Amino acid sequence: MTVILGIESSCDDTSAAILKDGIVYTNVIASQQVHEAYGGVVPELASRAHQQNIIPVVSEAIKKANIEIKDIDAIAFTRGPGLLGSLLVGTSFAKGFSIANNIPLIEVNHLQAHILANFIKEPGVESHHPKFPFLTLLVSGGNSQLIIVRDYLDMEMIGQTIDDAAGEAFDKCAKVMGLTYPGGPIVDRLAQEGNAERFTFNKPQIKGLNYSFSGLKTSFLYFLRDELKTNPHFIQENLNDLCASLQKTIVDVLMAKLKKAAKETGIKQIAVAGGVSANSALQKAIHEEAARSNWEVFIPRLGFSLDNAGMVAVTGYYKYLAGEFVGLNTTPYARTTL
Ligand code: KG4
Repeated sequence: MTVILGIESSCDDTSAAILKDGIVYTNVIASQQVHEAYGGVVPELASRAHQQNIIPVVSEAIKKANIEIKDIDAIAFTRGPGLLGSLLVGTSFAKGFSIANNIPLIEVNHLQAHILANFIKEPGVESHHPKFPFLTLLVSGGNSQLIIVRDYLDMEMIGQTIDDAAGEAFDKCAKVMGLTYPGGPIVDRLAQEGNAERFTFNKPQIKGLNYSFSGLKTSFLYFLRDELKTNPHFIQENLNDLCASLQKTIVDVLMAKLKKAAKETGIKQIAVAGGVSANSALQKAIHEEAARSNWEVFIPRLGFSLDNAGMVAVTGYYKYLAGEFVGLNTTPYARTTL
């Protein structure tokens, strides 16, 4: 049996997971509430919280999986991209654990891990996984990308955001409306009661398969600023419709490029990954398009679509099988591609 300990610390979630022979038995996540008051993640506070959380989170993951440290064959950790201070905590922990227990160290790309979350198996849960090659829409707080996945460790990015990520657009526009961080899930909830056709916002006109969300954020901000001049209660009185219209705009933009990519590549196996994949309007739009275009769709369940160590452990498992290890001189990287 192969046992992998996965560690995730790229942003504001400290997570540890235990995988045995491809099955994720535990996925413990400590989210950091400290950032709520600031309307976004404060890097310095994030690294401190990781430092406090990492030992208890790892201990719980090991205990709940009914294993002992000596049973672990390798430790996989998120090397990047992400916040450097946060990544340093997970990387340093992983190095220490590797030395102390004389087990190999496996570095994991956070983007690759989000995609391979679509291969997570859980004990006693029947699951379906994409067949190669498949197309992934990776949408999170830091990423918006379109990726062709040819094999577990063979991926090609064919489109990406040139500025903000989709999750960032949700969070920043939510902040302008006075909602707390992270705003994406709140916008999703408030939009359920709103009219998505009520307001229209500018959609970016970017060629090819790239995305852009910074213009939307600016046009949303200016629109509210103008409306508030004549009605100071404009946001409160129209909150549901604003959320629904904003959400529709973001989903339309994401869907347009996803459809274009599917058409150009001829791929009908479509996976979604990253925190924004939890968005109900995005899921609805993808399933509707799947029925029209004969796609087969894969979306990890919520616990594995937000930042988590289960996806790091599963990526680590495929790298372990491929013999891809790193030395103790490894350093984290804040930015990288696939
Ligand atoms: O993957 P993730 O946990 O972290 C990153 O790697 O960035 O994604 C977090 C992002 C946040 O921007 C959050 O607002 C967004 O995912 N998000 C959502 C929803 N749930 C999470 N955005 C829209 N609708 C949701 N239901």
